[in-house]
Amino acid sequence: MNFGTSSLDFSIQAYQEGVNPPVTKPNPAFLTDITEQGMRDLFDRFYMGLFESPIKYLFPLDKEEMKKAGQFSADFFIQICGGPQYFNQSKGAPQMRKRHAPFRITPEARLHWLVTFEEALQPIINEKLSSEENIQSFWNYLNVFSQWMINSKD
Ligand code: HEM
Repeated sequence: MNFGTSSLDFSIQAYQEGVNPPVTKPNPAFLTDITEQGMRDLFDRFYMGLFESPIKYLFPLDKEEMKKAGQFSADFFIQICGGPQYFNQSKGAPQMRKRHAPFRITPEARLHWLVTFEEALQPIINEKLSSEENIQSFWNYLNVFSQWMINSKD
């Protein structure tokens, strides 16, 4: 049986305090590959994963609220991948660091966030909904930009 070979690299870049490494936006083709609905499904899975994760205390306690939060996040990611400006329309300027400031985001919380995201990406990989190159560019964006969100040592 041929299980195929994957060149995807989900390694997580070590966080360096005080360093905000340069961010490259994901390939817009990731969005065209998976479609807007695919991005919404991805964020449903991701937020349901976060809801059960060791960092669930950071997020809404109510499942319906959590689902809504996931869809606002999906709005942002559709926009960052070159799609319609849904996030700007509903919430205004992204200002991601400012929006995360009320939450205590530690280096460890970032690791949980990324690992939960990697799990949510699995159906996209297994069902080959996007190319490895585009999935990699999406992961690279998460890997790098998540370092910017860290606002607490522990
Ligand atoms: C480093 C790990 C991260 C943690 C622990 C984290 C945690 C949170 C929390 C607690 C919220 C508020 C609840 C919610 O509305 O979902 C939130 C909102 C959000 N986060 Fe993160 N976040 C992280 C990284 C990121 C990154 C890297 C991005 C973007 C690339 C991002 C995008 C968003 C967006 C778009 C929202 C919604 C803001 C809004 O609706 O006003 N987050 N995040």
